[in-house]
Amino acid sequence: TTNMSHTIVIFGASGDLTSRKLIPALYLLYRKGRLPDSTRVVGVSRTEYSHDAWRADLEKTTKQFTGDSFEPKMWAEFAALVFYQPGDLQDSADMDRLATFLNELEGGESTRIYYLSTMPKLYPIAVEMLGAAGLADQSAGPRRVVIEKPFGTDLTTAEQLNTRVHKVFAEDHVYRIDHYLGKETVQNLLVLRFGNSIFEPLWNRNYIDHVQITVAEEVVVGRRGGYYDTSGVMRDMVQNHLLQLMMITAMESPVRFDADMVRGEKVKVLEAVRPMTGADFAQNTLRGQYYGYLNEEGVPANSQTATFTALKLWIDNWRWQGVPFYLRSGKAMSCRTTQIVIQYKEPPLTLFDHCESMEGNRLVIQIQPAEGLQMHIQSKVPDAGMRTRTTDLDFRFRRQFAGDLPDAYQRLLLDAIQGDASLFARSDEVELAWGIVDPILAAWNSPAAPELVKYEAGGWGPDSSTDWMMKQGRQWFDVC
Ligand code: BG6
Repeated sequence: TTNMSHTIVIFGASGDLTSRKLIPALYLLYRKGRLPDSTRVVGVSRTEYSHDAWRADLEKTTKQFTGDSFEPKMWAEFAALVFYQPGDLQDSADMDRLATFLNELEGGESTRIYYLSTMPKLYPIAVEMLGAAGLADQSAGPRRVVIEKPFGTDLTTAEQLNTRVHKVFAEDHVYRIDHYLGKETVQNLLVLRFGNSIFEPLWNRNYIDHVQITVAEEVVVGRRGGYYDTSGVMRDMVQNHLLQLMMITAMESPVRFDADMVRGEKVKVLEAVRPMTGADFAQNTLRGQYYGYLNEEGVPANSQTATFTALKLWIDNWRWQGVPFYLRSGKAMSCRTTQIVIQYKEPPLTLFDHCESMEGNRLVIQIQPAEGLQMHIQSKVPDAGMRTRTTDLDFRFRRQFAGDLPDAYQRLLLDAIQGDASLFARSDEVELAWGIVDPILAAWNSPAAPELVKYEAGGWGPDSSTDWMMKQGRQWFDVC
């Protein structure tokens, strides 16, 4: 199969994701010589375009999104591999025409990746139409399907989608996107944990007081109000990105770096998350909404949708018993930062002057935008008796490695082309994640709901979030 050609068929080709992320990522992979020989890209959507008209549009957007990496000569070479086939995926005659077009283009065996970047409600229909047109038949080469988020809107719809997808594609051929897994720093968390020997012995309830996972965004909802209001922070960020970060932080080492072994370990983390009941929802969840959200276009004036949440989750297993995992995410926050803080316990005894207790060590894993990690350690303040202060060992990707960190989609597209699903969500993973989020959303809709607290843009969410941590004798670690 090494000489087999590869075709990436993008459904929803005229959409924003295609021009903003997918084509730039494929172009940059081409430029670096990473795409296998005879890789082709075929865009499909209802708009009538010629191959050349689509290429011309993509040239403009790719130039815009790749900046200095755009080279006209390279682009021209790459553009010759890009094709367009107009069609409605709900129309079987159009799907037959697509099948004919692909067969002629490939002229033999080929690996095909069908990338669903359409409106989410079309995902199950797209899969069924692929099946009906014979496009999922694995006999002329592997046929894989990549499905963009969101994968369902709750557990029931996710299960239904999985059932419908599995009627056409076996799980091995299904690649569910969570672009956080494509981030270099998220993969580096696996390397930090399992490629070093000094962290793992301390990575447990004996040494760690708690873990904080923050995904803060400065942006507001803006023009995405129509989508966002039906989603909110729980569906938009927690169900996928934050739980993914938690799984990778908390998982056991897989036996091998193999898609099913890695995902098998991740799944066990979600299985161990203690279900919330009764008063837990009011005690262990916070929800907030930024002032101004109700004025966003597409948001109903009485919307109760949360744009901020903080959650306290427990992972009931040997490693993590008694160690809370705090998850926090919000829009309209002070800055854009994604970070994981491992807060170690305080030393058992305070020996030195001028402090009542010694601050515990902290490992700050910066996922973005200041990619790197800092280990906070106590050091002696020079010429000040035995006074101590928190100082840090600071690793930054940008200092130690040349070049920009590639966008997540480059890695994910390449993995889909090469048939490695390690960095894609498996069906059980997605369903378990909904199983954690759904009860919280249901509680937020019930009389037991914690109050929806308004917060000013540009801070760290509602003040109640700070107070909530204080009451537990802890503190958010906020850095921009
Ligand atoms: C998306 C959400 O999945 O992730 C957006 O729908 C959010 O609301 C985005 O802004 C954040 O991604 P990143 O890569 O900018 O952290």
